[in-house]
Amino acid sequence: MNYAIAIDGPAGAGKSTIAKVLAKELKLIYVDTGALYRSIGYYVTRQGIALEDTESIVAVLDSLKVELRYVDGIQRVFVNGEDVSDYIRTPAISMAASAVSAIPAVREYLLATQRDIAAHNSVVMDGRDIGTVILPDAKVKIFLTASAESRATRRFAELQEKGDPATYEEVLADMVKRDYDDSHRATAPLKQAEDAVLVDTSGETLEQSVARMKAIVLKKLAE
Ligand code: DC
Repeated sequence: MNYAIAIDGPAGAGKSTIAKVLAKELKLIYVDTGALYRSIGYYVTRQGIALEDTESIVAVLDSLKVELRYVDGIQRVFVNGEDVSDYIRTPAISMAASAVSAIPAVREYLLATQRDIAAHNSVVMDGRDIGTVILPDAKVKIFLTASAESRATRRFAELQEKGDPATYEEVLADMVKRDYDDSHRATAPLKQAEDAVLVDTSGETLEQSVARMKAIVLKKLAE
């Protein structure tokens, strides 16, 4: 019987890093749902469509095929057959993803893709509305968070490693805005599910957070 672990929370809380480790150890498929919104953000940006132009974004969905494929166990996201995974991790695409994710038609469009994967596999799925909307029956739900400063510090280090010129102040400001927008949109906002366990990773090392999450997950799975 397939089961799901849902991990929601704001940007930079460590969701994807921790989810990947859990997926490997528990032999589950890791689904990074943010990549789906990012791929649409990337596509509309590349088409020259303004992020405020909701009508054009909605119109584009008809000609769009967004797919997740697994290559050597690693998730890749394809738009109309093109692997866009390497282009979607920039600060500009983070903001574009957040903007398109507030459009109800975009969320509706991606709903089936997400539920379909979970119907056919046991998954660790991370995002903003997995425990509340996408997989309300997930066996384990975790709301993973950390202080804005500690999340921005992590994201800044990741971007620096990639040679991105963004400053810490920019990363922090973008993150605070994105979290505000993601939490205040009308459709499926970022919020803790009533039955989710709250985990705050501020000031923890990755190893500490992983160990804590693993203990929570194993306990929940045994219930
Ligand atoms: O997890 P991420 O930073 O890659 O997500 C990028 C944006 O996509 C995020 O700011 C909001 C949106 N998103 C969402 O609305 N719902 C999800 N399940 C995942 C991401």
